[in-house]
Amino acid sequence: MNKAFTEYTFANGKKLRNRLVLAPMTTYSSNNDLTLSKEEEIHYNARAKNFGMVIAAATAISRNAQGFQNQISIMDESYLPSMSRLATAIKKEGSVAILQLYHGGRMNMPNLYENQDIVSASAVKANRDYCVIPRALETKEVYEIINDFLNAMKLAMIAGFDGVEMHGANTYLLQQFFSPHSNQREDEFGGTVKKRLRFPLELVKRAQKLREELKRSDFIIGYRLSPEELEEPGISLDDTMVLVEELTKQKIDYIHLSLGRYNQSSLKDAENKKTVISYINDVVQNRVPIIGVGQIEDMDSINDAFESGFSLLSMGMIALSDPFVVIHLKDGLKPIKHFSEKSLIPTNIYQRMLKGVPGNKRGFTISEK
Ligand SMILES: Cc1cc2nc3c(=O)[nH]c(=O)nc-3n(C[C@H](O)[C@H](O)[C@H](O)COP(=O)(O)O)c2cc1C
Repeated sequence: MNKAFTEYTFANGKKLRNRLVLAPMTTYSSNNDLTLSKEEEIHYNARAKNFGMVIAAATAISRNAQGFQNQISIMDESYLPSMSRLATAIKKEGSVAILQLYHGGRMNMPNLYENQDIVSASAVKANRDYCVIPRALETKEVYEIINDFLNAMKLAMIAGFDGVEMHGANTYLLQQFFSPHSNQREDEFGGTVKKRLRFPLELVKRAQKLREELKRSDFIIGYRLSPEELEEPGISLDDTMVLVEELTKQKIDYIHLSLGRYNQSSLKDAENKKTVISYINDVVQNRVPIIGVGQIEDMDSINDAFESGFSLLSMGMIALSDPFVVIHLKDGLKPIKHFSEKSLIPTNIYQRMLKGVPGNKRGFTISEK
């Protein structure tokens, strides 16, 4: 059988029935109280029927973490019924359920609610029109945010998730601390690369300690990262190798890359043709699994990605248009690159797709619902 459809076992014993993962994808479709909507439940349940592991979208860990409207949230106990519905919708189909824990920091949309306090490592505005200058967090507040992440992780456990993924990618708060662009701090959380990675690493260490205290060695703690930033100064591949080595030494359960294409090379240095995954393999040397992503949507790209050294592969856009992409591939059929009612995606994300399918260039099409 093709590797993609064989079982995978994490170091802690957790088994996946296949090696394909639903990439976390925000659908902007929670209920107005930020609980899971029925449409989202249907969306996740369909994908859980075929993926080995489902990573649910960026979930706000606190009031202050919320990045956009209608974002699913796990801010306190009151979100437990909503989050239990999400974990159940995934697990009842035999898929492993992971919740992505999110704090948006300086990328949060302004004017989401009254007295919103947009924070980051330093008072440096992101290079996006909608962003505002954030307030630099005090040292003690950084520890409070670590506690918010831990609290959300504990709630995710209670809700029935098999694990969490710390969202350290796509320019959000954890990345903002790692980045020399957004982090100009002079306390223990800023300065050298070792100090800039202190927030992510401290979070992972404390999360693992909490897991031990709660006697939940089966619970997965993963970390997602973006390997480079285009800003100058910005995260370089060299910086990322330091972070990857530290996460590996810390025995993180997996590292999930965030890449536009699974086999991409440096964005900053066009001359350098060595792929990002080759750099990471050189450092990690199979000590922890790496999840690849980015335009993996047919057997050729799947085979090629496994050959380049990824342990697991996550799929985004193709799994939005075709909820049963894994079954289709396994049956030797072509995945559906057309958005329609059969895609079983919530209305708000469908509306956004109608305004311009992000993957248009990749051959995705859409019909009016
Ligand atoms: C609509 C949409 C929402 C996304 N939301 C998230 C998210 O919540 N968290 C995250 O880490 N990445 C998010 N991503 C990025 C995907 O996880 C993935 O990395 C990206 O789509 C590339 O994979 P693909 O080429 O298979 O689509 C999102 C992507 C899309 C298209």
